[in-house]
Amino acid sequence: MTLTIIETSAQRTHQSFEKDRYLSQATADAELDAVWNDCWLMAGLVQDVQHPGDFFVFSVGLEQVLITRDDQGELRAFFNVCQHRGNRLVCETQGSTQHFRCPYHAWTFSLDGQLKGVPLIEKFTEDPRTANRDLTQVKVDVWNGMVFVHLGDSPEPLLDFLGPVADLLAPYDFGAMTLVEDQTVHLACNWKAVVDNFSELYHVDFLHPQHKRMVDCHNDLVRLFAGGHTGVEVPGGTVNQKFGIPELPTDIQSSQLLSLDLDPKDFKGRVLEVREAIQQQKRAVAKDRGMPYERFTDDQLSDVWQYNLFPNTILSFTPEHCWVLRPRPHATDPNQCEFDKLSLVRFPNQTAAAHKPILGPASRDGAAAQPKSRPDRDVFSYEAVIAGDKTMTDTIDQDVELLSQVQLGMRSRGFNSVFLNEDEVRVQHFHAEWDRRMLKSDR
Ligand code: FES
Ligand SMILES: [Fe+2]
Repeated sequence: MTLTIIETSAQRTHQSFEKDRYLSQATADAELDAVWNDCWLMAGLVQDVQHPGDFFVFSVGLEQVLITRDDQGELRAFFNVCQHRGNRLVCETQGSTQHFRCPYHAWTFSLDGQLKGVPLIEKFTEDPRTANRDLTQVKVDVWNGMVFVHLGDSPEPLLDFLGPVADLLAPYDFGAMTLVEDQTVHLACNWKAVVDNFSELYHVDFLHPQHKRMVDCHNDLVRLFAGGHTGVEVPGGTVNQKFGIPELPTDIQSSQLLSLDLDPKDFKGRVLEVREAIQQQKRAVAKDRGMPYERFTDDQLSDVWQYNLFPNTILSFTPEHCWVLRPRPHATDPNQCEFDKLSLVRFPNQTAAAHKPILGPASRDGAAAQPKSRPDRDVFSYEAVIAGDKTMTDTIDQDVELLSQVQLGMRSRGFNSVFLNEDEVRVQHFHAEWDRRMLKSDR
């Protein structure tokens, strides 16, 4: 069993740190300038602003950003604030419109943010349309099907911020995947506790025992990048040998094999050969199934990758699917956050001879039917997950059910600091970058 760590930056110096970064309001306030106003943030999907007038609203803490496409086809982002008396301009989370009209006194702004209409304009001593009352612009850019915004004044280019991660993930082309589910759960924990949870596999054997049948978490490869980004690459299509090698393929392996027209029975006594068979068969059926497997390495064809973009975007993906997991800070309470899960699936293109979906090792999203229209966002509480009324998949439900307990435990007088091991090196790396930014903003 080996863990491989490839570091392209930074030393691990954060085996232990105090708990107040998860709890204190002063820290949450300081994070505004150190993190939220100084990083590119994944705001949403390009597919939600495909046409002029399409828009969506991205909330992060107290801020809201309105993202739209103007009449010239240019992507635009603005603080979601009317420039008359500061009302939130748009209340819907997404839609399509010809202009933005404030519900308070009906000031109207065009898609490129210019103030166009003002009722009873003769009552103003100065014409607001020539008094610099247009919407306040936010920097916006696009990478791999995703819209990123930067709330600061002079950000580095998005590709510089992403560094080598941008090229490593380019083959996956998330923009060619279709959104099949859009969920947000309210969690009673700090947003960083969610990032921590999705930065280590140490807990998987214990909290997610079902995973031993899916992937081999003990032969993972970890990558640490400058800027606090991290990645883990986990062999899929195999079993965790720590738990013994079964005679027959597991149910997850079997469903993957069947989706590739391979017979699980042929792998009796050869379970460890399934991974390579999946890689080869994907190459063999690529053209018929209309899947762009030629651009992936053999490992990528079978494995599950999870890359975390600092600060709060977690991408878990295979060539066939991607989960975008994103904890967003609560507006006023460091003990809460909103946690989004966007499920994307690459469907075979319609000209392919066989439209049969190919299943990956970690998600059953691939079995989803192609939706006729964009699914609505489902927003719910973690209590609804615990009650079994909502699910974000068994695995994430287990994380969601646990996280409020972590926050409560941290608040106890009986706990002062976290204490991390090598399997938690991505947690360490994330916090090293967080510290670097907080120290910088102190000066
Ligand atoms: S606050 Fe928007 S029109 Fe008055
Ligand atoms: Fe987990």
